[in-house]
Amino acid sequence: MNQVDYLRISLIDRCNFRCQYCMPEGAEIDYILQQQLLTDVELLTLIQEVFIPVGFTRFRLTGGEPLLRPHVVELVRAIASFPQTQDLSMTTNGFLLAPIAQNLYDAGLRRINISLDSLEPEIFDQIIGNRGRGKWEQVWQGIQAAYSVGFDPLKLNVVVIPGVNDHEVLNLAALTLERNWHIRFIEFMPIGNWQLFGDRGWVSSAELRQQIRDRWGLTESQVCGAGPADVFQIPGAKGTLGFISQMSECFCDRCNRMRLSADGWLRPCLLNENGQIDLKTALRAGISTAQLQEQVRELLAIKPEINFKQRESGTEGSYTRTMSQIGG
Ligand code: GTP
Ligand code: 5AD
Ligand code: SF4
Repeated sequence: MNQVDYLRISLIDRCNFRCQYCMPEGAEIDYILQQQLLTDVELLTLIQEVFIPVGFTRFRLTGGEPLLRPHVVELVRAIASFPQTQDLSMTTNGFLLAPIAQNLYDAGLRRINISLDSLEPEIFDQIIGNRGRGKWEQVWQGIQAAYSVGFDPLKLNVVVIPGVNDHEVLNLAALTLERNWHIRFIEFMPIGNWQLFGDRGWVSSAELRQQIRDRWGLTESQVCGAGPADVFQIPGAKGTLGFISQMSECFCDRCNRMRLSADGWLRPCLLNENGQIDLKTALRAGISTAQLQEQVRELLAIKPEINFKQRESGTEGSYTRTMSQIGG
């Protein structure tokens, strides 16, 4: 059985972008109320006194957009300072990153994944919504800043959407020729508010790999990370290419992670809500952290069964929450 030692922590469910496949303008989203968010103290208590004792050592901060969380640098510093923390990473849209990249690095963040669905500003604007105008440049600066500060590996996430950005695959892959960047192509997944974007289908990783192989050749490779990407490399390139194939492949049986939402729900699977527990309410009711550890251990024990059931239903999910609420 896989060791489940990786926790994706959503710091906030809000986002300053409106990606059409995630939280488009006009979508009805029930934001978590301020008083329902885990406070910094509650979050750090859960990490230190519940998750670390049951064996979690790798933490990824997600959102919504995690850089919208007040005191994010202090949170990074605190989590990085726990001696058991072996890996601390973040997934961000990069818009607020440039001025804060050095501070995050100095506080102990080492790995960062940034969403960049297009190299063409107009298409980028279209994907990230009506309020997108002019934002591509700022995200690009964020990426450059993260690179020069020394985040390693630096990964860029591309959700491939047929008819929107799938013509850019070779241009995006070419970024890895001269830069030690790790571009990951993600199969578009029907979750959350994606229908508002229209049913555009998805492109398989195998198809993308074939395009890249025909142009440059492709060999298997590796990059530091804990996620579901299959990693390849163009021969002689400085960076790598990752493929996250949740539509064409099922990686539930090698799943090593759980997710903590910004309002304190612990969820054993991205795609279904089986078994999830409300740690915040329990904590606020005065349940001891020793008892909470026991609840998490029980959830860890039934996770293989949840994974197995999810494997059978493919990407079909039973979700009332969107990607921005779960943290991807
Ligand atoms: P590292 O490998 O540690 O760098 O992380 P990662 O690739 O898991 O993190 P990231 O936040 O960049 O996620 C990239 C994509 O993978 C997102 O679209 C996620 O939703 C997807 N993903 C991550 N974990 C899972 C999972 O457990 N199940 C599914 N179906 N998709 C996942
Ligand atoms: N399908 C695939 N990936 C998605 N993401 C958000 N929504 C979807 C979806 N419907 C990606 C984001 C980000 C990561 C955390 O999840 O683009 O890179
Ligand atoms: Fe924000 Fe990420 Fe959702 Fe885009 S995909 S709206 S950047 S949470």
